Amino acid sequence: MFDDIAKTIWLLLPAYTPNNFAVVFGGGTPLDFGKNFIDGKRILGDGKTIRGFVAGVFGGILVAHLQLLIERAFGFQIYSKLQYHQFLQLVSLLAFGAMAGDSLGSFIKRRFGVERGRCFPILDQLTFLLIAYAFASLSPAFGYLFTPEIILIGIVITPLLHLAVNVVAYVLKLKEVPW
Ligand code: CTP
Ligand code: MG
Repeated sequence: MFDDIAKTIWLLLPAYTPNNFAVVFGGGTPLDFGKNFIDGKRILGDGKTIRGFVAGVFGGILVAHLQLLIERAFGFQIYSKLQYHQFLQLVSLLAFGAMAGDSLGSFIKRRFGVERGRCFPILDQLTFLLIAYAFASLSPAFGYLFTPEIILIGIVITPLLHLAVNVVAYVLKLKEVPW
């Protein structure tokens, strides 16, 4: 069980890390170009930028490559079991799906009238994951590494991990609120 949880986190790092790259490198033109939806509210809001999206996708792919190096250095094989082109396709879809899902989450939040930056529990933590799974499942390598158990563990632990990371960031005074 612990093994499966560790493996799930490892497999999901290319989907978990894009948002962090977006936070660091984001800014500039919003993805929705500042436009409103038919309900008069912003389509996505200022929290979703083109630069953040692109940096997020490339950041996730970069992390996946670091994982390949770490697997090689420590002598275990998860992502390195795949042929390189399969690996690249899978992790690109995970990273792209994570950023697309992150944007979809914002779209839904705006429709509910939740302002940019305000939290929307569960939606904030799971939309990106479900869309990352959906995109990644287009890759033949997905079913090989992401067994049904791994997929389910991902859905269960992601909101918990999110909370844990935020509490740690709060304790370290990196964040103002513990959520
Ligand atoms: N970010 C970005 N571009 C993206 C995603 C994120 O520039 N595509 C940056 C923004 O500066 C954003 C920050 O990362 O404020 C945090 O991301 P997130 O929590 O996803 O956005 P929120 O500001 O909370 O906006 P929302 O309510 O729409 O989720
Ligand atoms: Mg947010």
